[in-house]
Amino acid sequence: MSITKVGVVGCGLMGSGISEVAARSGYATVVREVNPELLAKGRGRIERSTAGAVERGKLAAADRETALGRLRFTTALEDLADCDVVVEAATENPALKKELFGNLDRICKPSAILASNTSSIPIIELAAVTKRPEQVVGLHFFNPVPVMKLVEVVRTIRASEASVAAARAFGESLGKRPIIAKDRAGFVVNVLLVPYLLEAVRLVEQGVASPEDIDEGMRLGCGYPMGPLQLLDFVGIDTTYYIAEILFDEFKNTHYAPPTLLKQMTIAGLHGRKTGRGFYSYG
Ligand code: CAA
Repeated sequence: MSITKVGVVGCGLMGSGISEVAARSGYATVVREVNPELLAKGRGRIERSTAGAVERGKLAAADRETALGRLRFTTALEDLADCDVVVEAATENPALKKELFGNLDRICKPSAILASNTSSIPIIELAAVTKRPEQVVGLHFFNPVPVMKLVEVVRTIRASEASVAAARAFGESLGKRPIIAKDRAGFVVNVLLVPYLLEAVRLVEQGVASPEDIDEGMRLGCGYPMGPLQLLDFVGIDTTYYIAEILFDEFKNTHYAPPTLLKQMTIAGLHGRKTGRGFYSYG
């Protein structure tokens, strides 16, 4: 199938990154947020990220203008009606995502592929609320989307080979390296990453070492670009908490049980970089 127009639902950390990459890869891209404030915030994020790419010499100034010109911002889900593929990147909330997929199924043209960027929810739960389960797949990107090379393509037991192949080709067209994963909560990367992040929170809770030393340990000892607590602040304390709850619910394995500190930081609004404070403070 040929993809020329892309829809993105949600313009937060992930949605804005996906929209940026789609527009920079030549796609007419419609981005939808729930209200004008969040839309303006997301648009600002894309403008700053692409300006940074120009400063670093990764993107020509003229190409930035062309890419920004391919983006259309809206608060109406109906504006995604003629998109060939829609990537949903809303908050990690199963009920919200199910409602969105029901609406997208009603609104989008019959040939459209509906993809979710969920980090943890089994895709079949979203496919099951649509009348096109064979065209529903997972497309899980990594933060920061313009930089990270991976996309997980998630194949459900109802997905057609054609849809999986189209999703994979779409991922490649965005300059990403797709890996195909079975439809299981957490797919490949988060099943490995989340227990590691949660264990780092437990080390803080138990006073085993300071956040700075835990992070330095993993950076210098294992060559990771960021330590686990820096990464938690980067991904979002709240997002990681929601992912852990979903994984724990799915596997009933205490590896995935969110530590109390993570829950309390979520409640307290200490969500990491996006709120200015998490394990560290940001100016
Ligand atoms: N467009 C294109 N390139 C960009 C860019 C943009 N908007 N912004 C940055 N870059 C490029 C830079 O030019 C630079 O490229 P070179 O290495 O070729 O010079 C590279 O990206 C790194 O940028 P910086 O030098 O500014 O930043 P850094 O070296 O401090 O690295 C980082 C920042 C990439 C975030 C790095 O710290 C890192 O990789 N951290 C780990 C991130 C990670 O693990 N992400 C996955 C999280 S899990 C997830 O997202 C999924 C989930 O479900 C939870």
